[in-house]
Amino acid sequence: MQQTLMMIKPDAVERSLTGRILSRVEEAGLRILRLRMVRLTPEQARDFYKVHEGKPFLDSLVAFMAGGPIVAAVLEGEDAIDRLEKIVGATDPANAEEGTIRKEFGLNIEKNSVHRSDAPETAENEIAWFDLNLALRPEPR
Ligand code: CMP
Repeated sequence: MQQTLMMIKPDAVERSLTGRILSRVEEAGLRILRLRMVRLTPEQARDFYKVHEGKPFLDSLVAFMAGGPIVAAVLEGEDAIDRLEKIVGATDPANAEEGTIRKEFGLNIEKNSVHRSDAPETAENEIAWFDLNLALRPEPR
């Protein structure tokens, strides 16, 4: 069993795609452990994306991610990271495979509808970030 983090980005929440995206996630065998809709502050968005510090796209990405509500989900399943990668598709919707979330719903490389953790270490850090910044209360075990 592995855990990963997904964020449905403001472009997708705004277009009422939250339910369809979550359905695809569940249909792919991933279980939703924690889920929250929230509007990130610019400071939170910058902190979440701190691995991209210095990248030319960071300021625009932060403004976009703090520009409307996001839906963040901690997911669990067998090979959760790879499983989510398969259904989400390539970062740039233009390069994403047919049938993937980003191909069907993404608008461009920034407004690509979802973020996902890209490796076990990132997943661990991003879930810890969720639990520290967004979780109201951990789910009962
Ligand atoms: P995400 O998975 O949220 O992680 C970082 C985000 O930066 C990425 O998806 C894209 O939406 C955004 N981004 C914008 N420009 C680029 C770029 N040139 N390369 C990678 N990511 C980019």
